[in-house]
Amino acid sequence: MSLKKAYEFDQIVSDIANHEEFLALKHELHHGISRYEHSMRVAKMTYSVTKKAKLDYERATRAALLHDFYTDKDTEGYNSKDTFKVHPKIAAMNAKKYFDIDKKQENMIEAHMFPISAVNPKYKESWIVSVADKVVASHEMYRYKAQMVIGIWLIFLFNVIAIQK
Ligand SMILES: [Fe+2]
Ligand SMILES: [Fe+2]
Repeated sequence: MSLKKAYEFDQIVSDIANHEEFLALKHELHHGISRYEHSMRVAKMTYSVTKKAKLDYERATRAALLHDFYTDKDTEGYNSKDTFKVHPKIAAMNAKKYFDIDKKQENMIEAHMFPISAVNPKYKESWIVSVADKVVASHEMYRYKAQMVIGIWLIFLFNVIAIQK
């Protein structure tokens, strides 16, 4: 990322990235790193792609940063399989509680786990956040969960084809 883009990225995310509640994600383990770091990576990838594609990149970048805005305490009582499904809703609820997000951004967050989230992506930006999350997560998990990574992509592609019909 160029210096100019890095500066713009910082301007877009700084209030979220430095918010006390969001900083708590630095202590949450996610794919072998912190959930904070994972979210930053997804936000950076979303920023690059949506800016290049001349989409709504500021709002998409902020939503991408908030896509996993939950702590393990928020998902207490859910097993890991259910956490996969419910955490996008919880992240959207937390995002709404602490930041000003609109309906479009809500969809970007709630649909990021497509096809297992309850909500489907409705906007190009939502698709980009969902794919960016999978690309970043694949990279983070590949070392120890190669089979799972391949499985996630196969399920994703299968469902993308299914909803076109
Ligand atoms: Fe997630
Ligand atoms: Fe994620």
